[in-house]
Amino acid sequence: MKELLALNVYFKRYSHSMVLGILCVIISNIVGVFVPALVRDGLDEALFQSRISNSHDSFWLSHPAVLAALGFGILILLASALKGAFMYLMRQFIIVVSRHVEYDLKNDIYDHYQKLDLSFYRRNFTGDMMARIGEDVGNVRMYIGPAVMYFTNIIFTFAVVIYQMFTVNPHMTWYVLLPLPFLSLSIYKVSTMINSRTAIIQTQLSKLTTFAQETFAGIRVIKSFGAEKNFEHSFDHEGKDYRKKNLQLAFVNSLFFPLMFVLIGLSNLIVLYLGGLEAAKGTFTPGNIAEFVLYLNMLIWPVASLGWTTALVQKAAASQKRINEFLHTEPQAAQKDSPDFELEDSISFENVTFSYAKSKVPALEEVNFTLKKGEILGITGRTGSGKSTLVQLLMRLYDPQSGEIRVDGKSWRDFNLESFRHKTAYVPQDVFLFSESIAENIVFGDPDGKVNDFEIELAASRAGLVKDIADFPNGFETLLGERGVTLSGGQKQRLSIARALVRDAELYVLDDCLSAVDAATEMMIIRAFAEALKGKTAIIVSHRVAPLAVTDRILVFNKGRIIESGTRESLIAQGGEFASIYKKQAMESNPVD
Ligand SMILES: Nc1ncnc2c1ncn2[C@@H]1O[C@H](COP(=O)(O)OP(=O)(O)OP(=O)(O)O)[C@@H](O)[C@H]1O
Ligand SMILES: [Mg+2]
Repeated sequence: MKELLALNVYFKRYSHSMVLGILCVIISNIVGVFVPALVRDGLDEALFQSRISNSHDSFWLSHPAVLAALGFGILILLASALKGAFMYLMRQFIIVVSRHVEYDLKNDIYDHYQKLDLSFYRRNFTGDMMARIGEDVGNVRMYIGPAVMYFTNIIFTFAVVIYQMFTVNPHMTWYVLLPLPFLSLSIYKVSTMINSRTAIIQTQLSKLTTFAQETFAGIRVIKSFGAEKNFEHSFDHEGKDYRKKNLQLAFVNSLFFPLMFVLIGLSNLIVLYLGGLEAAKGTFTPGNIAEFVLYLNMLIWPVASLGWTTALVQKAAASQKRINEFLHTEPQAAQKDSPDFELEDSISFENVTFSYAKSKVPALEEVNFTLKKGEILGITGRTGSGKSTLVQLLMRLYDPQSGEIRVDGKSWRDFNLESFRHKTAYVPQDVFLFSESIAENIVFGDPDGKVNDFEIELAASRAGLVKDIADFPNGFETLLGERGVTLSGGQKQRLSIARALVRDAELYVLDDCLSAVDAATEMMIIRAFAEALKGKTAIIVSHRVAPLAVTDRILVFNKGRIIESGTRESLIAQGGEFASIYKKQAMESNPVD
């Protein structure tokens, strides 16, 4: 339960409305408790009047019994309306607060998601992260709103009604209270059963949803491998399981209301029977019987909802625990109040070693090199040799386990991460485009949103995209993604280069981002890129060696280590790995028959 203490900050933020809401709960209860007393007095008075008067032939409305009933009826109506008005206000205050807190909490969680580094995203499943912001926040809201509201309501209803009952007749009060614990306990039992079965269904449902999601994502592969039947079969299997679990829930659910009504009916019966006995003895009036039946029914709903409310709080505590755990996850590479990133001289890797969480072999081992300001560095090597890993460390998407990355001699960690990201442009190996227009996808590269149409077009033309865009129905405004056009692999890659080009950065990093483009186009784009960035610092990773002609120096990687380094010419002259890749690729592009 102490997990829920974390929510106190939010309660404090809206304490004003919360206090007003609770005040309304109290007032509505106090007003409400007058109703049974009015019923009692009205009934007794009307009975009394009808007994003493014998004006059978008078106009019926002027009959004193009718008048008494009418007068009390109006009072009852007024009291009920007042109670209703305060209940309305109570909801307005408390439930509205819960919606505000829900909004704040979702924003806090989303902000935190944005700060966490990549290793967090590798450790956690998308479904779980979605659940944090959706389901878990929803459960917490049920605690802040309904649970708090019903709990205070239960407490005050009990206090006010039981007090009133004792003042009227303590003896009868005990009889009325007697069946309530049983009612509460049996409802609690049934609702925990319902809850546990609902939880099982939720898990099964998320399994089913994930399965369907994966099917849609991989529909091309499924169809081209002719695997539809297998998938149908698996879906059918999961669906059957889901249905079975739902039927089990339906069974318990259908027990719930009959059970509740039987218990309520029995309790009413007890009050009527014992009240009748008391009335026969003369210690109770008929009005008292009606009054106590009403009290009983005022208590029944809180008693019934006690189990339900407890379950809500338990659920919220479990959800808040997960939210707390997540909000306490510190981003590894975050650095807020440190100086802004500025590159004056060089970036250097010193004995950098890095392994991914679940792998035994280091992806990078003892890497040493220096990148001078204004230099274009080429990186090549076989697939899996650690090129992307190196670039991701440089971009601070991961932190190295040993060794140090330095900027002008100072540790990498000493710089403000946000300013660093603003001053670098990184084109990752796997392209991601948003389901927005082409222009918006390019503008995304500019964090300040200052680029104009001319700059967007220039970037697109440097990335070799202009001809492609001209062929699209709406040019730069063409929508991409599910509701728009689908780009080819090479078009996507060039678009993500244009995105980097609109950014006014100090350091540009291209990670093999033209692999899906033919060799001649890649050459042309890389040339335009180098031309555009004259004087800027850049790293170009490529498994094709020809485009590396624009670089000042090349590092060749193998199994996480730098095995060769130097200018293109010197590497070719060395006759090592680079020279052999170079020869092989030259042969492929100009095959000799
Ligand atoms: N997220 C990850 N988790 C675990 N291991 C990884 C991860 N990413 C890469 N690796 C491993 O690290 C090694 C280096 O991978 P990296 O992606 O850096 O290679 P690369 O040189 O960029 O290859 P390519 O030319 O195919 O892009 C590989 O053995 C790879 O299997
Ligand atoms: Mg790579």
